[in-house]
Amino acid sequence: MKILVATTNEGKLREIKSILSDLDVELLSLKDVDNIIEVEEDKETFLENAIKKATTYASFYKIPVIAEDAGLEVDALEGYPSVYSARFYSIEYGGKLEDESLSKDERNNLKLLKLLENKENRKGRYKTVVVYYDSDKGIGIWTEGVCEGEIAQKPQGSGGFGYDPIFIPQGYNQTMAQLPPEEKNKISHRGKALSKLKELLIKTGVVEIGSKS
Ligand code: IMP
Repeated sequence: MKILVATTNEGKLREIKSILSDLDVELLSLKDVDNIIEVEEDKETFLENAIKKATTYASFYKIPVIAEDAGLEVDALEGYPSVYSARFYSIEYGGKLEDESLSKDERNNLKLLKLLENKENRKGRYKTVVVYYDSDKGIGIWTEGVCEGEIAQKPQGSGGFGYDPIFIPQGYNQTMAQLPPEEKNKISHRGKALSKLKELLIKTGVVEIGSKS
């Protein structure tokens, strides 16, 4: 069987392919389809965004879809940046930070650090919600993966992406951006959500273990 992974991001696709590599399924990405449609991630929760993407792509391309949405939640900021993680710098909450000389990631990180100045509670977590949806069979499955941690005082490290230079995973004293990629993958929210999805896909008989045929 074929499943469309709703991403054009090579890194994410590689991670998903590696976790699901022992399943009897061919994974396609949006790079394999003609006429890529845009789905706006405009919902209030990761789950709603992931469901919106999975159902829209499944009904458009007529094959089962895996879609995900992820971000960072910070306790001292009422859970923000959450679904606004990618464009936190540009939203009203906490004031906009429009400095064109910085990358979007740098603007997001700087805004977060400014909002946490003098805050004692720096706890936060990365969260990923993954949705599998097959419109023909009427099957929908969702899972969540969490990586707990805290926000550093300043950016450190050059690995990873997004908030990694200012995110210290629980049990570590380095930021995610300072960890080797293998270490990050072991504790990654995305990896945890995908491993749970794999278990459920096998348990419910949607896919079988074995080589792709
Ligand atoms: P996406 O939905 O996975 O594309 O994630 C949305 C945003 O959340 C990204 O643009 C990043 O800012 C942030 N984010 C998600 N996962 C990670 C991660 O593993 N490390 C750092 N930032 C992340």
